[in-house]
Amino acid sequence: MSITANWSYPTAIKFGAGRIAELADHCKAVGMKKPLLVTDRGLSTMPITKNALDILEAAGLGRAMFAEVDPNPNDKNLEAGVKAFKDGGHDGVVAFGGGSGLDLGKAIAFMSGQTRPVWDFEDIGDWWTRANPDGIAPIVAVPTTAGTGSEVGRASVITNSETHTKKVIFHPKFLPSVTICDPELTVGMPKVITAGTGMDAFAHCLEAYCSPFYHPMSQGIALEGMRLVKEYLPRAYKDGTDIEARAHMMSAAAMGAVAFQKGLGAIHSLSHPVGAIYNTHHGMTNAVVMPPVLTFNRPAIEAKITSAAAYLGIAGGFDGFFDYVLRLREELGVPDKLSALGVGTDRIDEMSAMAIVDPTAGGNPVELTLDAAKRLFVECI
Ligand SMILES: NC(=O)c1ccc[n+]([C@@H]2O[C@H](COP(=O)([O-])OP(=O)(O)OC[C@H]3O[C@@H](n4cnc5c(N)ncnc54)[C@H](O)[C@@H]3O)[C@@H](O)[C@H]2O)c1
Ligand SMILES: [Fe+2]
Repeated sequence: MSITANWSYPTAIKFGAGRIAELADHCKAVGMKKPLLVTDRGLSTMPITKNALDILEAAGLGRAMFAEVDPNPNDKNLEAGVKAFKDGGHDGVVAFGGGSGLDLGKAIAFMSGQTRPVWDFEDIGDWWTRANPDGIAPIVAVPTTAGTGSEVGRASVITNSETHTKKVIFHPKFLPSVTICDPELTVGMPKVITAGTGMDAFAHCLEAYCSPFYHPMSQGIALEGMRLVKEYLPRAYKDGTDIEARAHMMSAAAMGAVAFQKGLGAIHSLSHPVGAIYNTHHGMTNAVVMPPVLTFNRPAIEAKITSAAAYLGIAGGFDGFFDYVLRLREELGVPDKLSALGVGTDRIDEMSAMAIVDPTAGGNPVELTLDAAKRLFVECI
């Protein structure tokens, strides 16, 4: 079976190996004449990025790139990017990369036509209605990792460089007009990034599935997303050139982001402050804190996890699922504790205070109190 398709849910998705070749066509179709390709520093010199710029240039769209993007991108990257967008007279953004390049690219397109500061559009209540919807430049997204699902998401995660907090910036028009999911682009990911991003996709599906809100569509997607990760992440990790496994992981990533419209939970609430303060990899951080959060949530999720385990072909209900998560982490070289990622115990109070007000905390099936967050951090570090 060839894994190639055109989907229009939740946006136009051009899925299949080699489909990066269509990049310029899709840019033109959404009205771009002079796009700015936004990616992170690491990717800026890689052949897949050069190829994307070649495709744009050959079609007469220029080869402008902005790559001053940190992992866990921040407001300074955003400001510089908006300046580059305006100075260059650009009319659209090709958001290219992992979550960092995608999130910053989307945010640049959004902020290119706003007058208020970015923090006014945090994902709180109806703050997004403050934005001028006509000020948002079109976005074509091209993921190069398979994890965050930002390519089909309506939010960007931007770190406030003053307060070292990760803020979710939301607007429905953050959803790219077109997304090209070409699994060949993910072949060059180092093993540790394959593992970390794959575990981010798994965390999105798992937390969405466990969140208490009513959203049966997301519930179903979350379950199948977990199955794809279970079947294909170990394969993609073992052999990075396994295109079938890479393709299914790309689907799982997009599915995780669609699913988490239902909510996330404490895995992300703990992971966000750690990432903002220690600049750790987001997905890897999620993978480390996953088992303690599962145990913490057990009283509220035991029945749900038992059903999920049955669907995934895991025997033993909640305990079986828990052991599976531990085995998966081991297989992917995920460390057992955050200390292995450079996290110390000296800032637990501060991180706990940040975790309980993180926008994801409200989706956790058991209330994440300050005390609970502290205990979880002690255990995780
Ligand atoms: N918008 C959302 O809904 C959402 C959801 C989850 C996470 N995030 C955010 O996404 C970011 C993390 O994204 P990520 O996990 O994709 O990592 P990333 O984008 O930070 O990339 C990690 C590293 O992998 C490299 N890389 C990326 N693709 C590669 C490839 N194909 N070949 C070789 N190297 C490659 C990058 O250069 C970088 O060094 C965090 O900032 C996180 O907060 C956003
Ligand atoms: Fe995530």
